[in-house]
Amino acid sequence: MISFVGAGPGNVDLITVKGRRLLEEADVVIYAGSLVSKEHLNFCKEGCKLHNSASMTLEEVIEVMKAGEDENLKVVRLHTGDPSIYGAIKEQMDLLDQEEISYEVVPGVSSFTAACSSIKKEFTLPDVSQTVILTRIEGRTPVPEKEDLEKLAAHKASMAIFLSVQDIGRVVEKLARGYQRDDVPVAVVYKATWEDEKIIIGTLCDIEEKVKKEGVNKMAQILVGDFIDGDYSRSKLYDPTFTHEYRRASK
Ligand SMILES: C[S@@+](CC[C@H](N)C(=O)[O-])C[C@H]1O[C@@H](n2cnc3c(N)ncnc32)[C@H](O)[C@@H]1O
Repeated sequence: MISFVGAGPGNVDLITVKGRRLLEEADVVIYAGSLVSKEHLNFCKEGCKLHNSASMTLEEVIEVMKAGEDENLKVVRLHTGDPSIYGAIKEQMDLLDQEEISYEVVPGVSSFTAACSSIKKEFTLPDVSQTVILTRIEGRTPVPEKEDLEKLAAHKASMAIFLSVQDIGRVVEKLARGYQRDDVPVAVVYKATWEDEKIIIGTLCDIEEKVKKEGVNKMAQILVGDFIDGDYSRSKLYDPTFTHEYRRASK
């Protein structure tokens, strides 16, 4: 059996109970070594074969999976965060489908929610934003033109920007044009939930300088929006004057 498992953002306890159990039982683990904490591997049983996918091609990964399947072994493919977000998981599943090899996908805590927990904020505040945009700036991987950061920022929704901190100058420029102001709050969270996590708080006006001063140029979330700092309305759900399915309004 092949199990794609989300390892979570870094801290070893932020994997799901199911993901941990699969790791403990695995005969073969293929882990994304550049981002997944090696501490997860301490939970593997003795004799479990470990492969770091950082130095492997897609075809090599699939070969290891196929060989495991042929021997009826339990194979875990360990991805960082949640595998469905920038996980390059689809191309693996498609090749497994072609080979008629079955698999399961176990979700994980994505780094965008981990980063929001680190700064102790909520993306979806009433009267601020009820939408979260997950995106990235184009790099070697292109981004469709209609999803350009400037266009997305024009919605003035809460944003979590992956894979982009190395280009913080360009990110800030596009966001300021989209939001049409430069006092929008920004939090850059480097290695959320890891021991060496760093949190840098600023606005579109000064975040570039602060990020460069801290030397952060990889593995960071750029969280943007007024949810980070500013006024909001209370939720209806816990409003004493509001009746809903589970509670009557107090008189
Ligand atoms: C290839 S993507 C994988 C995302 C992952 N699937 C997820 O759900 O978080 C790698 C990017 O995710 C972000 N990232 C991953 N782990 C992170 C962490 N612990 N703290 C901040 N950002 C992180 C960074 O933007 C990094 O460049």
